Amino acid sequence: MQTRILSTSEYDVALASEIIAGGGLVAFPTETVYGLGANALNEEAVKKIYLAKGRPSDNPLIVHIAKKEDIYELVEEVTPKAKALIDAFFPAPLTVILKKSKLIGNVVSGGLDTVAVRMPKNEIARRLIEKSGCPIAAPSANTSGLPSPTRAKYVVDDMMGKIDAIIDGGDCEFGVESTVITLATDVPTLLRPGAVTKEMLEEVIGEVYVAPAVLEGMAENEEAASPGMKYKHYSPKTRVVMVQGTKEQYENFVNSKTDCGALCFDGDDVKIPKITYGKESDELEQARELFDALRELDGFKVKKVYARAPGKDGVSMAVYNRLIRACGFDIIDLTKPFTVGITGQTGAGKGYVCEKLRQYGFEVIDCDKIARQVTRKGESVLNVLAENFGKDILVNGELDRKLLAKRAFATREKTDLLNSILHQIIREKCISLAKGICVLDAPQLFEANMQGDCYKVIGVVANEDTRIKRIVARDNITVEQARQRMAAQYSQEYFLDNCDFVIYNNGESLDTQIENILEVIL
Ligand code: TXA
Ligand code: MG
Repeated sequence: MQTRILSTSEYDVALASEIIAGGGLVAFPTETVYGLGANALNEEAVKKIYLAKGRPSDNPLIVHIAKKEDIYELVEEVTPKAKALIDAFFPAPLTVILKKSKLIGNVVSGGLDTVAVRMPKNEIARRLIEKSGCPIAAPSANTSGLPSPTRAKYVVDDMMGKIDAIIDGGDCEFGVESTVITLATDVPTLLRPGAVTKEMLEEVIGEVYVAPAVLEGMAENEEAASPGMKYKHYSPKTRVVMVQGTKEQYENFVNSKTDCGALCFDGDDVKIPKITYGKESDELEQARELFDALRELDGFKVKKVYARAPGKDGVSMAVYNRLIRACGFDIIDLTKPFTVGITGQTGAGKGYVCEKLRQYGFEVIDCDKIARQVTRKGESVLNVLAENFGKDILVNGELDRKLLAKRAFATREKTDLLNSILHQIIREKCISLAKGICVLDAPQLFEANMQGDCYKVIGVVANEDTRIKRIVARDNITVEQARQRMAAQYSQEYFLDNCDFVIYNNGESLDTQIENILEVIL
């Protein structure tokens, strides 16, 4: 088939409207993305849309209208809330779903008893609908599974030879598809975020529920609130991972990488190959540029791309929703200062695991070392310790660590007291040292309440006998003393219940266990 490229002239739009009226397919600009249109009331014409896009037949299309009144014949009833939204927003990048009328066939509605209707803001789109003399069914004008086209050239890439005509109307104003809200359910539910935000909708109709699949992956057996949710969205050939964190955390993180690329904001100080998608402060610009950036990614010859995460409110919710799908819901959260926290019982072999992770390039922050640093001669906390555990624990201003340990571990109360004095100081020091991918080596991770500071927690455990042997040999103490120390610690069950991963160290291969865990985490 020959695909004609048309302009937005009066003559060309009239020509396009004749194609639509005659049962053909025309791609046209809207303020969101380009649409691939056919006469919504002609089932044979609408079938061709599914064919040209390679779209599953149960994924319904949006019906576009030129005037607000045109919605009445397409739906069973315009509910009061729907009426309020139409009056407040139409024409807009907003789609409302209502129970369909008899005019709407099963091909357009994907077999559902509802229909999605939108009155676009873009004038060329409205002129085309008006002149065609019928509502226009139009999904985004991309091949199914590719990003929605924000420029005519992307429509040409995907649809040349498959449709009758493409109207080149320049770049789209918003760049992400319309907000989709259903009013066919008891509570108005946001199915797809867009430039008309949840906040804007709530100002008009009160509470709007956000379908869980908007911001998170769908559970294995969850039913999709909107058929579009269950289909795989654009995932670039290169694996993309979303990175949550501040600008600085993101920069430090990606700049420690080789062989990788970045999808970041303008002005991010990134040393690896990068593609940007707008300024951090401008969510509309991010929306406008995201799909363009995603299409560009495929030309990127890198192993992995780290995408800087947008916000989740306002228009950012739309950007987040599209990007998280492109990332296959893969997220690294740097707002947790420590990538991994390692903890475990005395003598279980934590040290070996930390050493191994160091070899993998992790920065390891050693809590015991920090604990010694913050109790060095001259540190003010020594006076607090002396008041509570006896002045004689200080000898010429130096802490007698053995004596303090003896007193502090004598009873549960004393141990708790020592912890309440030291843990917060140690925690703050550790966090101040954390950067990039780093490991927190913390025997007392749970006691210090630092699990929330770690993206994942690994516990290293071993049988009691094994541990006693190790401690006795390592610290040159008696079996009795070893038992006493161990009694003050959490049980193996506690670690099994509270850690994300557990490494067993009774002779099993530690390296294999570590590698398996790293594969999941990274
Ligand atoms: O901005 C837009 O909405 C663009 C332009 C061309 O108007 N169109 C667009 O259409 O993005 P499409 O087909 O790519 O996305 C429509 C989404 C799909 O996820 C579909 O599953 C959902 O809306 N949808 C359509 N009718 C529905 C219905 N009756 N119930 C639930 N979801 C529906
Ligand atoms: Mg689409």
